[in-house]
Amino acid sequence: MEKNQLPHIPVLLSEVVQWMNLNPQSVVVDATIGLGGHSAEILKNIPHGKLIGLDQDEEALDYTFKKFLGDTRVMLFKSNFSNLVTILNKISIQWVDAVLMDIGISSFQLDFENRGFSFNKSQPLDMRMDQSMERSAEEVVNEYSFEQLEEIFRNYGEEPHARAIAYRITQARKVKRITQTNELAQLIRDYYLKKFGNTKHRKDPATLIFQAIRIEVNQELKSLQKGLDASLQVLRSQGRLLVISFQSLEDRIVKQFFKTESKDCICPSHMPQCICHHRAYLEILTKKPVSPTYEEIKNNSRARSARLRVAQKL
Ligand SMILES: C[S@@+](CC[C@H](N)C(=O)[O-])C[C@H]1O[C@@H](n2cnc3c(N)ncnc32)[C@H](O)[C@@H]1O
Repeated sequence: MEKNQLPHIPVLLSEVVQWMNLNPQSVVVDATIGLGGHSAEILKNIPHGKLIGLDQDEEALDYTFKKFLGDTRVMLFKSNFSNLVTILNKISIQWVDAVLMDIGISSFQLDFENRGFSFNKSQPLDMRMDQSMERSAEEVVNEYSFEQLEEIFRNYGEEPHARAIAYRITQARKVKRITQTNELAQLIRDYYLKKFGNTKHRKDPATLIFQAIRIEVNQELKSLQKGLDASLQVLRSQGRLLVISFQSLEDRIVKQFFKTESKDCICPSHMPQCICHHRAYLEILTKKPVSPTYEEIKNNSRARSARLRVAQKL
């Protein structure tokens, strides 16, 4: 399939545009522009505005560059969103009206490229969103110690069998370096099969381990925290921050960030008086995260775990 025919369906599209509360002049940052699905819809609502799009994936950005070629409202940057403040400084933009972060991987990365994210295909173990990064999944799997593997499987995958799978990997790589996604996936499936017999699992047993390795390779949780801090710095008063996450670890970070930044004091509850001098910067607009409708999930099964949280700068 040609890249210009990629079937990418942006999640929670109408909800995103609605919650952004745009006006024709709005200046919007799409911090994870991917294939530009959300941005295309946002642009319909900001005829006299600006859209600054970031993505750390050069291939996604190449595609999106062609998609928006000639649109003078659009500026694209290959960058991690943790560098948002620097990017905006470079183009002399101090404040923006909305920031969207649609975190995770795109269907483009998962399905159509030899990018090593998919455990259903034989691909080189890569998983780098930014392909200029030095460390790929192959290095993590083959060079991390047993303890390091166990720790990332536990912390980033919440994998209940972190220790046993880390052990299996360290044994297997003594015989042969693990270089393909399907080799790693099969090793995990074999472990589950041996341990639990031919149980039908709701999801592939390799899911959590792949998630953990991907988070480690791309340092996703650290970037998310930095991206949230940066967004807060660049939003103007009444500006909106929208974050879509696909798994609970990320959603927890977003929820906690919103909670902390919406409080005037974050001292421990036993303190008799405030010593932190923290000030609230945000008002949480979605008490509970917005989930896709049944209709949306029926049309796009990948949307099923998406959760949108929205906050407004005070
Ligand atoms: C779910 S896709 C976004 C899809 C996009 N909203 C659309 O409608 O086409 C996530 C994108 O975010 C990018 N990404 C993830 N983490 C990033 C980060 N820390 N900095 C910049 N881009 C990131 C990925 O490379 C990927 O292209």
